[in-house]
Amino acid sequence: MIKRILFTGSNGQIGSELSRAFRKIYGNENVIVTDIAPNSKVADDHYEQLDVLDADRLAKLVDTYKVDAIVHLAALLSAVGEQKPQLAWNINMNGTINVFEVAREKKLQRVFVPSSIGVFGSTTPLDNTPQDTVLQPSTMYGITKVSGELLGDYYVKKYGLDIRGLRYPGIISNDTLPGGGTTDYAVAIYYDAIKQGSYECFLSENTMLPMMYMPDCIKATTDLFQADFSKLKHHTGFNLAAFSVTPKDMAASIRKYIPNFTISYKPDFRQAIADSWPNTIDDSAARTEWQWKPNYDLDTMTQDMLKVIGDKHTKGLL
Ligand code: SER
Repeated sequence: MIKRILFTGSNGQIGSELSRAFRKIYGNENVIVTDIAPNSKVADDHYEQLDVLDADRLAKLVDTYKVDAIVHLAALLSAVGEQKPQLAWNINMNGTINVFEVAREKKLQRVFVPSSIGVFGSTTPLDNTPQDTVLQPSTMYGITKVSGELLGDYYVKKYGLDIRGLRYPGIISNDTLPGGGTTDYAVAIYYDAIKQGSYECFLSENTMLPMMYMPDCIKATTDLFQADFSKLKHHTGFNLAAFSVTPKDMAASIRKYIPNFTISYKPDFRQAIADSWPNTIDDSAARTEWQWKPNYDLDTMTQDMLKVIGDKHTKGLL
């Protein structure tokens, strides 16, 4: 039975909210949060500073806290990865193999490591992208995510480890800002809508990408983490979808609540990355193998995002 779980990257956009959700399920003392930053964003108890490139310290923490499973979220995202490709390779690949190796050596019961729509490239079918398809990404981020999936599957087959992962779409949230992703416009647009009633988008108006609201991301991750391993045919790269939108659709959704909201478009280098990623995703493997089903669509998400960010703005917290 899994009792104690260690998070890497727990200060990040997903790590901060997912580790809080896991603390509710497994108990504060059973969720060890780590990040490269000196202080935790999540909680002061059971926090350790950890650079995932430091394999010895990772192994020591696993021993000290009697860890059974790792949720490995520390990584560089797609846009920052294009600016620092060597660093992206180093953190994403060496961080991941350090986690897999400690799991092998210490016989851990489970590892969760996320993958991404970044695994796809322009040779993949862009509409209703299949689960098992061509993976030829053009970004360093995508290359590390494909390699991470393959490496994880290798450890599953070769060493009998339990490793699981999802291909996250763009994740939209109102707690911790994302850092350095191509889908980040979909978060920034809500903050700017509240703060100034307008947004300048770095992608063009008709760029369609798969997206998901954070509560669904947490639900998907928790559900897969707790799924019966023997029922899984795939392991490290489940396609995952909630809805697909363009910046234009998102602006129209915001206008339902903020009628004067305006948007302008100034595409930059991230446009080429977005153009190589799918419009829509076929996530039937996730739906069949571990009963995945999202709760939020664009408008229910918009309503909640604007409420939460609006409240923070009123309280002077933005
Ligand atoms: N949201 C990520 C990015 O844009 C994709 O996984 O890099």
